[in-house]
Amino acid sequence: MDKRSLLHSGYLNETLRSWQSNCGELTPNNLMYPVFIIEDDNGIEPIKSMPGISRYGLNQLKKHLDLLIGKGLKSILVFGVVEGLPKDAIGSNADNPNNPVIKALPKLRNWYPNLTIACDVCLCPYTDHGHCGILNPDGTINNSASIKRIAEVALSYAQAGAQIVAPSDMMDGRIGAIKDLLIKNDLGNKTAVLSYAVKFSSSFYGPFRDAANSKPAFGDRRCYQLPTNSSGLAHRAAERDVREGADMLMVKPGLAYLDLVQSVKKGHPHHPMFIYQVSGEYSMIYHAASNGVFDLKIALSEILTSMRRAGADVIITYYTPVILDWLLVKSKY
Ligand code: PBG
Repeated sequence: MDKRSLLHSGYLNETLRSWQSNCGELTPNNLMYPVFIIEDDNGIEPIKSMPGISRYGLNQLKKHLDLLIGKGLKSILVFGVVEGLPKDAIGSNADNPNNPVIKALPKLRNWYPNLTIACDVCLCPYTDHGHCGILNPDGTINNSASIKRIAEVALSYAQAGAQIVAPSDMMDGRIGAIKDLLIKNDLGNKTAVLSYAVKFSSSFYGPFRDAANSKPAFGDRRCYQLPTNSSGLAHRAAERDVREGADMLMVKPGLAYLDLVQSVKKGHPHHPMFIYQVSGEYSMIYHAASNGVFDLKIALSEILTSMRRAGADVIITYYTPVILDWLLVKSKY
């Protein structure tokens, strides 16, 4: 060790500090904004558990997105939320022509030709039991029926105009099933698959289940979402999804799992790595900032930088509108 290497001299001022950076800057290209679409085109419903975030009907969403696109928004992740359309055992309304996502996609594509649209693919917002797959009579997951149905739903979103389908269900084999069906329908090279590959069973999803009206009616999701204590399963899940043809990978939630972001990215350096900063992370930061624990901008900047440093190429965050404003004022993080 060189005793004369006085570290402080290496980052004396802003310019010297910038030379030490070994993670890319944050730009609008590194942000994806999750949006919830409801059936009533003129509706707007604030989500209580996520202050500042609302569900939008299509006309309201247009007003919201018009502003954000003016500020540099590049991509969104779309979730459908239904109240009028009934739920059933197989999530029939996930891809019904009246589904709010299916209806919105052609219009969004037409209004915003330069916006990249990803669709969350899952059954939980549309099943009466609230689970992410199809169940056997004894309440366990019927894996083969689930992935067949999930692939059908993904195909419908792709046909309606989604450039990315993002299965969040965590059923074994769903990436392969989706890829097969896309290829069979000539969409193999038109629709990318972003796999929620490394998705943990997490208390941080609480507010989302409110937002998407998708709480399980019984039991929990621990038998198909990853256990917090297992980095082995997390890596096997990522490897399996890559083998089945995933184009992009995600780790979710973010902050508590940055070790896996780093190691999964190292294992798959050629796959874009996404982090989903989930609903509970959003609300936790929001409440801490509004109670004076820290300044929102300084703390969020620190967290986002740590995510980039760990290896995230894209951060999916409900804070996207706020961050776009900051980036406009000063492109400095
Ligand atoms: C649905 C889904 C969930 C999230 C994204 N897709 C919830 C879950 O798996 O329970 C969570 C997103 C968030 O908390 O912001 N499968």
